[in-house]
Amino acid sequence: MTQFKTQNKTADFDRAEVNHLTSPRQIRSGKNKMTNSPPAKPIYPFFPRTFSQLVNLLKIGMSLGVSLVLRRPYIWGNPVIAHIEPTSLCNLHCPLCPSGTGELTRQRTKLNFDQFKIIMDKIPPTVRMLLLWNQGEPFMVKDFLQMVSFARQKKLYIVTSTNGHFFHNLETAKKIVQSGIDELIVSLDGADQESYQKYRIGGNLSRVIQGIKNLSAAKDQLNLNKPLIHLQFILMKHNIVQRDQMIDLGREMGADKLSFKTLQMVNRQRGNQYLPEDQRFTRYRPLTDTEPPQTKKRRFFANDCLRLWYSMVINCDGQVSPCCFDKDAEFPVGNLLTQSFASIWRGEQFRKFRRKLLDSRFELEMCQDCTEGVQNLFTETIDYRKN
Ligand SMILES: C[S@@+](CC[C@H](N)C(=O)[O-])C[C@H]1O[C@@H](n2cnc3c(N)ncnc32)[C@H](O)[C@@H]1O
Ligand code: SF4
Repeated sequence: MTQFKTQNKTADFDRAEVNHLTSPRQIRSGKNKMTNSPPAKPIYPFFPRTFSQLVNLLKIGMSLGVSLVLRRPYIWGNPVIAHIEPTSLCNLHCPLCPSGTGELTRQRTKLNFDQFKIIMDKIPPTVRMLLLWNQGEPFMVKDFLQMVSFARQKKLYIVTSTNGHFFHNLETAKKIVQSGIDELIVSLDGADQESYQKYRIGGNLSRVIQGIKNLSAAKDQLNLNKPLIHLQFILMKHNIVQRDQMIDLGREMGADKLSFKTLQMVNRQRGNQYLPEDQRFTRYRPLTDTEPPQTKKRRFFANDCLRLWYSMVINCDGQVSPCCFDKDAEFPVGNLLTQSFASIWRGEQFRKFRRKLLDSRFELEMCQDCTEGVQNLFTETIDYRKN
């Protein structure tokens, strides 16, 4: 029978998704199978490396603490994590993703390289981790690797998430490796085409497998340890049984890590058919017929959110959202293509939003399903470099 451990039970998004992206312990102890080059050095945004980074973290901590006590927003620090969305367009049609279903009503466009440079030049030097995705498929943007190379000059740890359909030829895979991107999350939730396409509608599993093999081969040929190839498998009713098969497949393809992530529902009616019933594999409490789905919240800070004090989300039209759960940019706080960073980060609109959040987080619809403070986002992570 399929056995699931629940190691690596994680906390909230940034400590969950970020920890899970770049645990320095895991990466330091990891050794790439084939290459002789040293393991990639992670930049973990919550470990200060310089005095000014330490000061910024203290400022974030203090302003957050004071804000939580006085229930009024104070902002003394700057973000350490930035999300930039290269595009909101996608080639697939995942049924619980607003980009895939076409439910996103905000502008569906692509960022071009000049716009990316404008944004990057405004991002403060306190930012240490760049998450190059939000909604949509980043590799659909032709300038994507140029963007990565530009951001590399700023010495950021750069991560993206992809459905893996754009590097099925070796030359492209080599260019990706040469771009210097630190980590590539490849969404792959099915060990055979039939299971895979139940969620990744329009997807082609053999193309994704070929792409991952290419990346691994390119790293070996170029004798480079980066990017970390991080597979992400969303646990659903139909694919839970494939856990062992997926672990073998990941090893065979030359991946570095494989994480099992729990499903976010977004739309309850559609979500129900994918949500596992076994409580170990879901972030939601048992569903009732009458109440909206409730996530499994931690006891501390259950009604609070730290994210708006240390991260910022820039959509593909330059619009800034308070966080990545504002998927449709219903709460825009500015536009980084036309405004300065400070006028947005410390501006009136962002302040008002933080205030609303401090007043009552769960009266905001976008916060209902958010992962901040939620348990069981990831159930298990396999590190192939260790075994
Ligand atoms: C909207 S996607 C954009 C990036 C890229 N297109 C991809 O699929 O990896 C961002 C992340 O959300 C994940 N995702 C998609 N649907 C999800 C769901 N229902 N629950 C949890 N994560 C989901 C994807 O696997 C991906 O890691
Ligand atoms: S591949 Fe990513 S962006 Fe595209 S529909 Fe699926 S989850 Fe959404």
